[in-house]
Amino acid sequence: MLDNLHALILGDVYGQPGFRAVFIGLKNLIKEKKADLVIVNGENAADGFGLTPEIAGQILSAGAHVITSGNHIWHQREILPQLEDSRVPVIRPANYPPGTPGKGYTVVTVKGKRVGVLNLQGRSGMSSIDCPFRTAGSLLKKMKSEADFVVVDFHAESPEEKEALGIYLDGKVSLLVGTHTHIQTADERILPGGTGYITDIGMCGPELSVIGSDPAISIRRFLTQMPLKIEVSDNPSVLSGVLVKIEMSSGKTVSIERFRKKSLV
Ligand SMILES: [Fe+2]
Repeated sequence: MLDNLHALILGDVYGQPGFRAVFIGLKNLIKEKKADLVIVNGENAADGFGLTPEIAGQILSAGAHVITSGNHIWHQREILPQLEDSRVPVIRPANYPPGTPGKGYTVVTVKGKRVGVLNLQGRSGMSSIDCPFRTAGSLLKKMKSEADFVVVDFHAESPEEKEALGIYLDGKVSLLVGTHTHIQTADERILPGGTGYITDIGMCGPELSVIGSDPAISIRRFLTQMPLKIEVSDNPSVLSGVLVKIEMSSGKTVSIERFRKKSLV
């Protein structure tokens, strides 16, 4: 029987409710999915905006190997030393311009394989940072000697940009998952070159919410067009993500299955 690496990827952890659900539920989820590698996007874990060293430490202690992020990672400045430290597996999108603090990828060894985790961010409807396509191209060349497989978290708004990057990297990476919109898409598939793909894996955060935030405030923002402060919805969470089986010998994805599981907290 061919040996596979089971990669569990969880979507954006949103606020205290999302963090609670991940902290309490991750160990069981790892057991249930027989996960070897766990990647969690933590960019909204601190009250919806950014990530603190304490929260990062707790997500890692709950079983995550790597924490990825995105555009909100800059909200909590205390995380910067961790982003800068090559020994701490907390990363930010690699295509921020040169001089931006932090690292855009990390490598972890799982089942004897060196797995590179690369974080990129889209530009459609987001900040005009460096090109994610060209950054991926040059970093993948660099990562060739450092990693046996590469898994990409593409934090982006536009499904068009996400599909384009997925197909651009098909056959060059084991897997590309989209994050950021907090809404899980039903288009998970294996691309012709063996790259697992999904436009968005969804969030780990309060189910009764507007992409994680308090619905009453969100609705008032739409009705009045006032810039009201967003607050995290205090409701039980869902844990959303994918379980991906990657063939150890080839690094190709052999199955990708999405899940959206209600948490009791
Ligand atoms: Fe985001």
